[in-house]
Amino acid sequence: MKLTQEQIEAYETDGYILLEGLFSPDEAAVMKSRLPRLFKLDRDEVIKEKSGAVRTVFAAHTFDEVFARVARHPRLIDPARQLLGSDVYMHQFKVNAKAAFNGDVWQWHQDFGTWHEDDGMPEARAMNVAVFLDEVNEFNGPLMFIPRSHKRGRIEASHDRSTTSYPLWTLDNAKVAELVAEGGIVAPKGRAGTVLIFQSTLVHASSPNLSPWDRNTLYVTTNSVDNAITRFKRPDFIAHRDFTPIETLDDHCLAGFDQAVA
Ligand code: SIN
Ligand code: MN
Repeated sequence: MKLTQEQIEAYETDGYILLEGLFSPDEAAVMKSRLPRLFKLDRDEVIKEKSGAVRTVFAAHTFDEVFARVARHPRLIDPARQLLGSDVYMHQFKVNAKAAFNGDVWQWHQDFGTWHEDDGMPEARAMNVAVFLDEVNEFNGPLMFIPRSHKRGRIEASHDRSTTSYPLWTLDNAKVAELVAEGGIVAPKGRAGTVLIFQSTLVHASSPNLSPWDRNTLYVTTNSVDNAITRFKRPDFIAHRDFTPIETLDDHCLAGFDQAVA
């Protein structure tokens, strides 16, 4: 799969691109069918909200057959290679649940802030490739971006260990207000199966999910193989240490899996 020149330019200019319906409803349903089993697992990789609902499942590609394939899917990995101009490895793989009524806030941040501070990632040569596993609408806590904020490079941040159950390097309100005055805020939405690719220095956040609709999102974080992390402070299920280039599978690698809940 190849991005068009127009898509590449939008990614460079705005910091993100939305690929509507890149996965079929059937493929999205196969991925989603794996979640109930994963959410019940008693493992360190399953992070709970303060409410007890599941917030994130890390590294599901290491213990689920479908996600093992998703982690090598050409529709996710080819665009990352193309945009980074190199082979890529998997820095992080996670599902954020953002459950109906219970999904909690993600404060304004840049991912590169955390990857640099905590994992010693040298340059902003990594990106998130997100797959909507549910429809994302204006009510269920969509990701919010400040377009073009990635052009600022790494912005000073402080370590928030208390707002949510998961520590994050977050931006202060004055800086967010300044960036929004320039770039505004967008919240890309779409049906299950839509893919959203964004730069690691793009400032983003999401509100709590007060709607009755779950907002499960899968994040494949690819990093250039020339930009491997240098600090191993966080568990390897959060910041992977296998820097082997990803070898992609066939485009139809999700065919034949059952969509019934596993
Ligand atoms: C993230 O910023 O890593 C996740 C945000 C979200 O899923 O809303
Ligand atoms: Mn983030």
